[in-house]
Amino acid sequence: MSDIRVKIDEIAMAVPDNVLTNQDLEKIVNTTDEWIRTRTGMVERRKSDDHTAASDIALKACEKLFKRSSLRTRDIDLIIVATVTPDHAFPSTACILQHKLGIPNCPAFDISAGCTGFIYGITIAKQFIENGSATNALVVGVELLTKITNWTDRNTCVLFGDGAGAALVTPAHKGEISEIIDTYISSDGKYGNLLIQQGGGSRNPTSKETVEKNMHTLYMEGNRVFKIAVKSMGEAAVRILERNGFTGDNIDWLIPHQANLRIIDATAKRIHILPQKVIINIEKYGNTSSASIPLAFAEAVEDGRIRRGDLIVLDAFGAGLTWGSVLLRY
Ligand code: ACO
Repeated sequence: MSDIRVKIDEIAMAVPDNVLTNQDLEKIVNTTDEWIRTRTGMVERRKSDDHTAASDIALKACEKLFKRSSLRTRDIDLIIVATVTPDHAFPSTACILQHKLGIPNCPAFDISAGCTGFIYGITIAKQFIENGSATNALVVGVELLTKITNWTDRNTCVLFGDGAGAALVTPAHKGEISEIIDTYISSDGKYGNLLIQQGGGSRNPTSKETVEKNMHTLYMEGNRVFKIAVKSMGEAAVRILERNGFTGDNIDWLIPHQANLRIIDATAKRIHILPQKVIINIEKYGNTSSASIPLAFAEAVEDGRIRRGDLIVLDAFGAGLTWGSVLLRY
């Protein structure tokens, strides 16, 4: 066990300006505002323009972050970007972001864990800091899912949006209450084909045929993913609470991945937490995958709901399939 305790020092978010409403989607596919609201809880989401890439939105979140923190970019010695919509397959978006921020030599890499990406990122950063390999980590969840959306598929195109959240993960000083208490991550690759971008990798390199078949876009068997999500997110939340001797009653805030309001409600019920203690912004941003938790977290810090010392559970589920949770005092 390390003597070094680790905390989230600051968190910030950024989204593109352009709003895509349910009514806009009614004009694109055979759907209704009523269906989208009642089946998902979504009302609008953000869509980036043709010139914006993941690192551009990530940069905006990071600029806000460094304005809030006493740390400077030169203090960062680890950069982790969680994304399934990187600027390019390579180089990593983490390296691109490092260059844009002017951060000197340090490890920088992307991780692919779908919507659980931010929780994976926090877990990795915590361990780098605990074992002395890094001091101040920048962990970013960024996603431009509208860039890989199939706009002819009503099953998926209504669900996703763009955004970024960034956190500074640093050592907690002696006597400080803020701390990442515990993290839990898991996955089960046998469900990988339920949520997949089939084209563009080494399995199906980009060709005229892959593009014509829309294989470069996101494919999801939503109904099957839904059932596994309810089970896994519930279990991830219960596990992290139980092994640290807490119940839902002790928690100030649950910040769940914003994929579907019905999944969020089921998770909240599973840990018996009051609805008013659940951070929800799915109606504004839709599912922003690895950006969803830091977006919700940062927004609740900005509007004063979350305060220093609050006990919080982060809980997510996504492509892989992956899932995980974090217990922390902000
Ligand atoms: N508008 C109108 N009707 C629709 C739409 C739409 N946009 N989409 C689907 N339907 C129809 C279907 O065609 C179907 O019609 P049918 O009964 O005539 O065949 C009916 O609605 C029901 O479809 P289901 O897929 O069973 O609907 P469900 O209630 O499961 O909701 C949803 C679909 C919202 C996708 C849900 O399953 C879900 O949220 N799944 C989980 C998503 C998730 O958690 N993903 C993981 C993270 S994403 C990541 O990692 C990138």
